Amino acid sequence: MAGERVLVVDDSLVYRDLLVNHVLTPNEYVPLTAKDGDEGYRVALDEAPDLIIMDMQMPGMTGIQVLEALHEAGSEIPVIMMTLHGSEDLAVRAFRLGVKDYVIKPFDIEEMLMVMDRALTEVRLRHERDALTQELIEVNRTLKAERRQLEAVLTSTTDGVLVVGDHAEERIILANDTARRDFCMRGDVVGEPLREVLEDEILVDVIQRAKETGETAHAEVPLSDDERTLNVNVTPIPGVGRVAMMQDISYLKELDRMKSEFVSTVSHDLRSPLTSIKGFANLMPSVGTLNEQQIYFLEKIQSGVETVTTMIGDLLDLGRIEAEVRMEMQSCDVRALIERVVEGQQNHAELKRQTLQVEMPPQIPSVLGNALRLGQALSNLLSNAIKYTPEGGDISISVGRENGQVIIIIEDDGIGISQEDLPHIFDKFYRVDSPETEGIIGSGLGLSIVKTIVEKHSGRIWVESQLGKGTTFTIMFPAVTQ
Ligand SMILES: Nc1ncnc2c1ncn2[C@@H]1O[C@H](COP(=O)(O)OP(=O)(O)OP(=O)(O)O)[C@@H](O)[C@H]1O
Ligand SMILES: [Mg+2]
Repeated sequence: MAGERVLVVDDSLVYRDLLVNHVLTPNEYVPLTAKDGDEGYRVALDEAPDLIIMDMQMPGMTGIQVLEALHEAGSEIPVIMMTLHGSEDLAVRAFRLGVKDYVIKPFDIEEMLMVMDRALTEVRLRHERDALTQELIEVNRTLKAERRQLEAVLTSTTDGVLVVGDHAEERIILANDTARRDFCMRGDVVGEPLREVLEDEILVDVIQRAKETGETAHAEVPLSDDERTLNVNVTPIPGVGRVAMMQDISYLKELDRMKSEFVSTVSHDLRSPLTSIKGFANLMPSVGTLNEQQIYFLEKIQSGVETVTTMIGDLLDLGRIEAEVRMEMQSCDVRALIERVVEGQQNHAELKRQTLQVEMPPQIPSVLGNALRLGQALSNLLSNAIKYTPEGGDISISVGRENGQVIIIIEDDGIGISQEDLPHIFDKFYRVDSPETEGIIGSGLGLSIVKTIVEKHSGRIWVESQLGKGTTFTIMFPAVTQ
């Protein structure tokens, strides 16, 4: 590397020329010259060259005196001295004053270049080190500023943020003010094991679930000390841990509650007039003979009333199930549950000459749940299978056990569900509109009820179906460990 500024201090014009024109310029160094020690000293301080090549024997200030003066001025510029034969004792003094190297006059150009290169290597390394240090300081400053910004954003956001590391003790990496306040975590919790500072079981569970599945986990967390509910999404971040983002959805919950209350009030109020319509319609034949057309109209009224009554019943049920924050749960016997459900639906299947097969292993673990609601969910699934399977079809219910889960599969070889309809069938009031479903009565609430019940039991439900081939619903509940 060249381009460095080199100061030549020599009273001999011959040597100055030799160095400038044959050593420095051809090798792309930038030359500076001084014709004696005084000038050399001044230029060195004013221009701060990268290297000084200085003759020792000069009139006026000698090389040694310049060195001493520079030394005193705190200069760190490396110096190569040029000396004559027989002045080695001078060299010793010069080295004490920090001279890097020396050449004996007359020298050849290659020798001088080598010596210069050696002396400059140190300078170059120092420059590089200084540049790197500067760069590091810059990067550090930027990082600190960015970290401060990020912290400010996370701290001041109204959503709770909790970051947990992937270590065995699950130590907290970050908890912003909102998260600490909402879960009553006192003081600085960073570095503390999660379980020691966080009491909320639901939140601990969902953070755990994200670790086990490696996928984003979600839960609604009701806060114990007030009426609020948080919507929590926990995302695993490889190499970091898991980030829980917590949003206050109390107002949504309240809206939902108001909506449910509205639906349930209206449904309730519709019940009495419906009961009288039904009652009076049933009384009609007893007050006089009806002609054929009147009988036909009456049947229409009765079946319409029946449909609306069922729908209102379902709506009221769904409202109730959704509103139950903590459903009454106990250990339920799955075998008894299924036997009861099958018994209730058997005659519907028989009427359609369908075979209803039940497969249960001798040992079935219990599940923690509400027997009434679980029965209702299974009943809805079985009644769908019967409803949407043509006469003579096959329907089966089988129970299995896997990884601490009880699995219930309800399968039919009925009309099936198209891929376009599948994502919607759990929506409230969604019914498939097709020639095959024409004439089948229903309100489209059955599966929303099933899904709500399954979720209230920490279970999962999914469906596989092929149009014209059949449908399989699978539900999974955590087994009660015995
Ligand atoms: N086993 C099945 N085979 C084919 N289609 C089905 C099956 N189960 C449900 N479906 C389709 O999904 C839709 C939604 O089912 P859901 O049980 O919610 O409502 P429904 O049976 O129409 O009415 P409800 O159960 O409220 O009386 C049904 O209308 C039907 O089209
Ligand atoms: Mg149904």
